[in-house]
Amino acid sequence: MKMLEGKIAVITGGSSGIGLATAKRFVEEGAHVVITGRREKELVNAAAAIGENVTTVVGDVSRLDDLDRLYAVVKAKHGHIDVLFANAGAGTVAPLEAASEAHFDQTFDVNVKGLFFTVQKALPLFKDGGSIILTSSVSNIMGLPAFSAYAASKAAVRSFARAWTLELKDRNIRVNSMSPGPIDTPALATTTGLTPEQAEQAAAQFASQIPMGRRGEPEEIAAAVTFLASDESSFITGVDLAVDGGMAQV
Ligand SMILES: NC(=O)c1ccc[n+]([C@@H]2O[C@H](COP(=O)([O-])OP(=O)(O)OC[C@H]3O[C@@H](n4cnc5c(N)ncnc54)[C@H](OP(=O)(O)O)[C@@H]3O)[C@@H](O)[C@H]2O)c1
Repeated sequence: MKMLEGKIAVITGGSSGIGLATAKRFVEEGAHVVITGRREKELVNAAAAIGENVTTVVGDVSRLDDLDRLYAVVKAKHGHIDVLFANAGAGTVAPLEAASEAHFDQTFDVNVKGLFFTVQKALPLFKDGGSIILTSSVSNIMGLPAFSAYAASKAAVRSFARAWTLELKDRNIRVNSMSPGPIDTPALATTTGLTPEQAEQAAAQFASQIPMGRRGEPEEIAAAVTFLASDESSFITGVDLAVDGGMAQV
């Protein structure tokens, strides 16, 4: 028996990295996935890589109209949601002394406001007994110099999982956050604002801070998210599951 047979799953940021690996795994486990992201070409390529049982909707999670469009598509196509992986997010480098208001607003608009309304607007379609997984980060408990707005935004995400666990318990909807350590995705080189050389140095430095001595693979995150999405985690709610090679644990 597959872990997510017949489930309808929505994955924000499903066109790259962690979200894409999870979308692939969910489909392998029998789910139909609806993936979203801002870049249409990446979504089309992701759908081709996933191969079957996938719907794409272009949209920015920080725009509430885009979220309404996303869920209108889900409603028309499937009528309900069993699993939500609220994963879209990003962080850009900005030391405290140099960080602009735009940097701060952009970080919180996507990682905090976007995720908040991603979950709120899914609720009318959510099946009682479903599972919500929020992508936080080990930075929710670790100092991350030059990424303080990002780290604070991910601490907010972890906090949401606590409150929403209580708010949604009567619907038997479980809410957990999942905190990756450094994972080998395009993000470090493409969205952080680091130069290729700085990104390479950062990857090496991260690896040296991880007890397992390496960055994680997106498929290792996908495995953990699949567990949290499935009935295998039926008595787990409100936790923050670190998938970090031990980085923030020792
Ligand atoms: N990689 C790591 O080391 C690491 C560690 C801890 C936590 N995380 C978290 O894991 C999540 C996924 O990161 P990743 O490493 O897989 O990054 P990635 O490969 O860059 O993928 C990010 C995904 O999110 C989408 N996205 C970004 N901003 C969006 C927005 N405003 N609206 C809708 N979609 C948006 C991107 O598509 P578009 O650009 O086309 O919108 C893409 O599909 C993020 O929340 C990140 O903070 C990553």
